[in-house]
Amino acid sequence: MPASTLKYQSGFANEFATEAVSGALPQGQNAPQKHPLGLYTEQFSGTSFTSPRHVNRRTWTYRIKPSVTHKPYEEYSTRLMRSGPFTEVPTLPNQLRWDPIPIPSEPTDFVDGIITLGGNGDPAMQTGVGIHLYAINKSMDDRFFYNADGELLLVPQQGGLRVHTELGIIGVVPGEICVLPRGLKFRVVLEEKAARGYICENYGQPFRLPDLGPIGANGLANARDFLYPVAAYEDREGGFHIVSKFLGNLWIAEIDHSPLDVVAWHGNYAPYKYDLKNFNCINTVSFDHPDPSIYTVLTAPSLIPGTANVDFAIFPPRWMVAEHTFRPPWFHRNMMNEFMGLIFGQYDAKAEGFVPGGASLHNCMAGHGPDAETFERASSAELKPQYLGNTLAFMFETQLAVRPTKFALETKILQHEYYECWQGLKKHFKPGN
Ligand SMILES: [Fe+2]
Repeated sequence: MPASTLKYQSGFANEFATEAVSGALPQGQNAPQKHPLGLYTEQFSGTSFTSPRHVNRRTWTYRIKPSVTHKPYEEYSTRLMRSGPFTEVPTLPNQLRWDPIPIPSEPTDFVDGIITLGGNGDPAMQTGVGIHLYAINKSMDDRFFYNADGELLLVPQQGGLRVHTELGIIGVVPGEICVLPRGLKFRVVLEEKAARGYICENYGQPFRLPDLGPIGANGLANARDFLYPVAAYEDREGGFHIVSKFLGNLWIAEIDHSPLDVVAWHGNYAPYKYDLKNFNCINTVSFDHPDPSIYTVLTAPSLIPGTANVDFAIFPPRWMVAEHTFRPPWFHRNMMNEFMGLIFGQYDAKAEGFVPGGASLHNCMAGHGPDAETFERASSAELKPQYLGNTLAFMFETQLAVRPTKFALETKILQHEYYECWQGLKKHFKPGN
């Protein structure tokens, strides 16, 4: 099925209702004594039953077999995937940057192709994040995955993916994102020979749209641009496997049927996609620039008001018009912790070294900002309106320091010379002027 023929429902966390077979969705109640088509009723809860209504997430599914029908799980290798608490190696205060991860030479599917660069918190405490890359060259056909540790925000950088989930099929390409809720079963199919991207695994409360405050009722990511799948089911039996991520470990079990067997569902706990081109980017039309929180697409709150467990922000194509202003991101030290990736183009604070598929990490109070070349150029640039067209960077900004994995500090893709990009910043101070 070509990607253009996939159907979606639009809105953010709406009370969606969808059926792949007419009559599969009960009317007027959730749990009929006997389902008219012989389906099992199963509720899928993404928040506590008693969560306030505006953040309550649950979906009712009507499926061929209930989720309980599988053999016992046994431990499965996590390879280079890691989870909190991240204690493999001490966390150093240096600025860190990585080249893109290569596509593997061995057949590697989504489950085996997750490589963790770092994270914070602990899935057992339902707080913090895991920050991963994926580099894969094999589709998942007869095995399925779910993550009990958190929701997965996928940021493709190379290659399209078709994510077959319990609640329908989502096609996602670089420039779009896909969010797979905690516990959702899915398999990832490649649209091309290989794919690569970034994953934010959010152990905490689900992502939601940020409040807009004085911006008003519209702007940033608009709710109607989020797309949820329509019901689509697999009625397949065979010798399949299901892999579970639970409390930092991977587990595998035999299952004699596809668990993507939901024929109809209704509710607001479901996977979704979003095309980052639809982001209504707001910035100054006078001078200076607002804090980068103005670029927030999605936010997952912590228990501290106004402090996110993790924000997902983007730096998309946009006009720069600020007068008498240093236009690139200024020098900065932050209580929050900034992991960045680049989907395509060039980031306006870095002339070189930060390439598509690469990543950087600036942890709590680590100085960061434009490199020497960018500083000199931007300090003397003519300030006419400028369109930054070829750029799409993003940030996972998280409350707790991102603790790198052993792999992240020992891999050949770590740029040991990253610090040098600031060494050329000259002293310009002239107290007599
Ligand atoms: Fe910053």
